[in-house]
Amino acid sequence: MELLTLSHVAKGFGEKEVLRDVSFTIPEHTVFGFVGQNGAGKTTTMKLILGLLLADRGEITLNGMPVCYGNTPTNRFVGYLPDVPEFYSYMTAVEYLRFCGEIAGMTKGEMENRSAELLCLVGLDKEKGRIKGFSRGMKQRLGIAQALFGRPKLLICDEPASALDPTGRRELLDILAAAKQQTTVLFSTHILSDVEHICDQVAFLHKGEIVLQGSVEEVCKSKKTAGTELETERPEDARMLLLEFPFLKPLEKKRLLLEEPERQWEILKFVADHRLALLRMEQREMDLEDLFLEVVGK
Ligand SMILES: Nc1ncnc2c1ncn2[C@@H]1O[C@H](COP(=O)(O)OP(=O)(O)OP(=O)(O)O)[C@@H](O)[C@H]1O
Ligand SMILES: [Mg+2]
Repeated sequence: MELLTLSHVAKGFGEKEVLRDVSFTIPEHTVFGFVGQNGAGKTTTMKLILGLLLADRGEITLNGMPVCYGNTPTNRFVGYLPDVPEFYSYMTAVEYLRFCGEIAGMTKGEMENRSAELLCLVGLDKEKGRIKGFSRGMKQRLGIAQALFGRPKLLICDEPASALDPTGRRELLDILAAAKQQTTVLFSTHILSDVEHICDQVAFLHKGEIVLQGSVEEVCKSKKTAGTELETERPEDARMLLLEFPFLKPLEKKRLLLEEPERQWEILKFVADHRLALLRMEQREMDLEDLFLEVVGK
């Protein structure tokens, strides 16, 4: 079932049109990567889904109900981790989650169970210190626990991993992947390898529109291969090949790109005739990063 649908959504600030025509859907129990350059409008889109901003045009439906501006009833299905989460820093992680439970009107037993379960999920169950001593990664993990507290159907995370080091990022991504068991995850990022690691679906936002969307596999396959890559043992061999076959593109000193696969035989014949040391010749697959750079036209 579709959990979230955006249909022809537009939003501008004054003269500036940020989102021109944005449509996408997120099925339940998926991890959805929302990719775009700085300033593309990712945070704006998330705020529209949360009813924190008023759309100029278009509709947003969450769990079968329309999202409306202001105190939208659909927010009871949503957990949100903002790009810079704020906490009461004098509390410990467990105190903070219990406090969230109290506000939500949970019983004491429910509250204790849920906070223990979530602290375990985010790896903070043994952490006794106050939040003010937490690292960025720990704060992000506590933010996820807080956002998951009310068992949301949709967890929205705004660039949760961008400011973390590789270990912290990996831990956070593993938590999001694990959260898929209990919820659907929408997260924004500009780190394409993170999307490849954990996302089922991806959408690229560029110039106010979704320019590419689908499963990570589909999206990568849609662009076929980018050619054949050749690598020689010695730089002079690569130079010889370049002189003989000017249609080859130099990638590095010993690496060349062949974009016309039918010409591989003449190259291989030349390699054999001149006894060049060819280390590798293989099809080059596009990854998300190549694709993104292609669609944003760099
Ligand atoms: N309240 C606002 N008033 C005026 N302009 C705004 C407002 N909020 C966002 N913008 C503008 O809208 C554009 C999109 O901003 P947004 O924060 O949605 O981008 P983003 O994709 O989240 O970028 P980043 O990767 O840097 O977080 C930017 O040019 C920004 O300056
Ligand atoms: Mg943003």
